[in-house]
Amino acid sequence: MSRQDIVSYLGTDWDRTLALIRSHLHSDVSLLEETNSQILAGGGKMLRPMVALLIAKAISEPTEDSIRYAAVTELLHNATLIHDDVADESTERRGRPTLSALLGPGTAVLVGDYWLARAVDLVVDTEHRDAAIRRFARTLTDLAEGEMLQLEKAASCDTSEEDYLRIIRCKTASLFCAAAESAAVSVDASPSQLEAAVAYGTALGIAFQIKDDILDYAGTDALGKPLGMDLKERKITLPLLAALEGSPQEAQIRAMVREIPSRPENRERICRFVQEREGTLLAARRLDVWIDRAERALDAFPPGPSREYLVQIARFNQFRQI
Ligand code: IPE
Ligand code: IPE
Ligand code: MG
Ligand code: MG
Repeated sequence: MSRQDIVSYLGTDWDRTLALIRSHLHSDVSLLEETNSQILAGGGKMLRPMVALLIAKAISEPTEDSIRYAAVTELLHNATLIHDDVADESTERRGRPTLSALLGPGTAVLVGDYWLARAVDLVVDTEHRDAAIRRFARTLTDLAEGEMLQLEKAASCDTSEEDYLRIIRCKTASLFCAAAESAAVSVDASPSQLEAAVAYGTALGIAFQIKDDILDYAGTDALGKPLGMDLKERKITLPLLAALEGSPQEAQIRAMVREIPSRPENRERICRFVQEREGTLLAARRLDVWIDRAERALDAFPPGPSREYLVQIARFNQFRQI
């Protein structure tokens, strides 16, 4: 399966979603218009609208609401990434300098706000407006809570696996879940199909963030963003958590993480610890469990190309380098 196969399969639904994203972002302010064009040309994977349209198609024929909600997920995703890069002080994304690095954090926050506002506006005139607004509002609440909990845990360095799962559920799985659930709502899915969409979106989102966290330790330049950022920000993610499990050095390593701002050289020692205890391999095993869960959730949908592509998207996390 290639990405192009999915795009071709989605056909005009995909084209209409892209066109809607572009037209709905239009602004007469040239700085904003140029910035938006740069972001759109930036080469994001657009996984969330892809998942949304495939879920709608797995259940029935995508509707006007399906197209709109799919577009909303990509607008929200980019808005939150722009804000995330400000919060994380990241300098590179998709192989280019971040907006925050190019225009300054204040301007980046404004651009993120614009994308957020345009997303909300897209939901307003839809048939399933109340359910959709409630769903997307919950995602934005989850996102803010997830990022705040992550900051709290970066200061205390006592992140447990339960904390970690809560953080990634909130900051990443919530939007994948909203993509799948709003798509199901858009085609008037049955309660059991809705439940399956939620289960798939959540498991896929958790798998996706676990892989992102593995790539932060073991990725290549293809990722398009700097590696090793999580430790720099004192984020204790699954590769380190798995390495710490049962280790007599746990207290010492956590203390070293806490000291990173004043002792950046600790990062190298901690990475070696993760490597010696095969932390990324252990994390990859946990990742497989979530991929399986995502696949199992799809059993509620009839067999066919949409379901098969959704399986492939979940499995993509086993090998992706981007
Ligand atoms: C990056 O998401 C942020 C995470 C949730 C890990 P993607 O990897 O989907 O970002 P783009 O849009 O393809 O760049
Ligand atoms: C995901 O977390 C960001 C959001 C869900 C907003 P990360 O901070 O790990 O994402 P990257 O690595 O910057 O893409
Ligand atoms: Mg980040
Ligand atoms: Mg990351």
